[in-house]
Amino acid sequence: MNKAIKLDVSKTLGFISQNDINAQAALAKKCNETLHNGTGKGNDFLGWLNLPSSITAEQLKDIQQTADTLRAKCEVVVLVGIGGSYLGSKAVIDSLSNYFDWLQKDRKNPVIVYAGNNIGEDYLVELLEYLNGKSFGIINISKSGTTTEPALSFRILKGALEKAVGKEEAKSRIVAITDAARGALFTLATNEGYKKYVIPDNVGGRFSVLTPVGLLPIAIAGIDIQQLVAGAADMEKHTTPEVPFEQNLAEQYAVVRNELYKKGKKIEILANYHPKLHYIAEWWKQLYGESEGKEHKGIFNASVDFTADLHSMGQWIQEGERTIFETVLSIEKPNKSLQVPTDGENLDGLNFLAGKQVDFVNKMAELGTQLAHVDGGVPNIKISLPELNAYYIGQLLYFFEKACGISGYILGVNPFDQPGVEAYKKNMFALLGKPGFEKETEEIKKRI
Ligand code: PA5
Repeated sequence: MNKAIKLDVSKTLGFISQNDINAQAALAKKCNETLHNGTGKGNDFLGWLNLPSSITAEQLKDIQQTADTLRAKCEVVVLVGIGGSYLGSKAVIDSLSNYFDWLQKDRKNPVIVYAGNNIGEDYLVELLEYLNGKSFGIINISKSGTTTEPALSFRILKGALEKAVGKEEAKSRIVAITDAARGALFTLATNEGYKKYVIPDNVGGRFSVLTPVGLLPIAIAGIDIQQLVAGAADMEKHTTPEVPFEQNLAEQYAVVRNELYKKGKKIEILANYHPKLHYIAEWWKQLYGESEGKEHKGIFNASVDFTADLHSMGQWIQEGERTIFETVLSIEKPNKSLQVPTDGENLDGLNFLAGKQVDFVNKMAELGTQLAHVDGGVPNIKISLPELNAYYIGQLLYFFEKACGISGYILGVNPFDQPGVEAYKKNMFALLGKPGFEKETEEIKKRI
């Protein structure tokens, strides 16, 4: 790779040693090989491993064409989905879009709004009010096709769309992304004749951002999906087991976080210094939390937006319980330029910064925070992107996915299932009186 994201673990040394890291290199390599050989736990969910290099130009063209159709017809596109069915696209769209674009009247891109990721009645009513009178379309994403939150939202939104434009036109504005042959959404989409995309059987929701699940909404938002996939494909090449540990960012990150975990650092906080990266952390939390939090093991994943959260959680990070480490997403160069102006009166005392880039101030906050946190007993991992663009975000997504697979195997869990997610569903269905849950309904009534 000419230019690539970088991983700097030097500020973890002192909490763990280079010998600790080196001693785990062989295990990380073995775990990486296990992923590639398909001989580990959850090996029926490894389709994501070669997604970037296997997606064809025709597939990308087809996704782009569907995106262009929706872009032409709709000023708003509602993405219906929860968990892995929306977090990846939201992460990429937010990180690469103009922050205030959705407020502009003359914007080029449709506004993407989200539903099916909550059951808030007020939220849905307000969404319907917002959509009223606007030309909108819907992408309904559910791998299983049976998840309650998106199914409920889609039922309501489909009704609103059909009422607004008629059943026939609504069909041309709805896209379903689901399993190849099963599930309620598959049947509904087939019966209604919606354009369909398939989530491959062997790709779990939280690893699906580089399938149509992520690529279609990202393309609708006007982001270059070819560059995104190119970045991911380059990272795929550079994290195979053949790449030596010293150059293999995914193996290194997996080892360092597991070594810190062994030393009692049970919480990893992903920090950013750019508001656009907030949802990258939300996606990352799902990826790692749902993959590793099993068998009463696993790092707890948290996130903060700096510098805002330095004025809230910063206190805890600096002086609270010493069970945390921090991973910082750093952007080396801003895309835009703004200098601090000179002020004749200088009442705020900021003239000493006049002529400096705003990003310089941000970088000094970042460096100062890193040093303070390390001094305060918080190991620091730094992941740097040369700049914020689709190519580097593609690298970052694949880097995190690959490291997650390796890290889960180092921890000894199956990183590709999520049995714990079923517990709340069973109780909710029992409480709602869902047919087939009569026994559970009787049992749960005794507990409340
Ligand atoms: O990672 C996962 O598998 C989950 O977070 C799912 O993405 C989430 O539960 C949504 O499931 P579905 O796409 O089947 O509606």
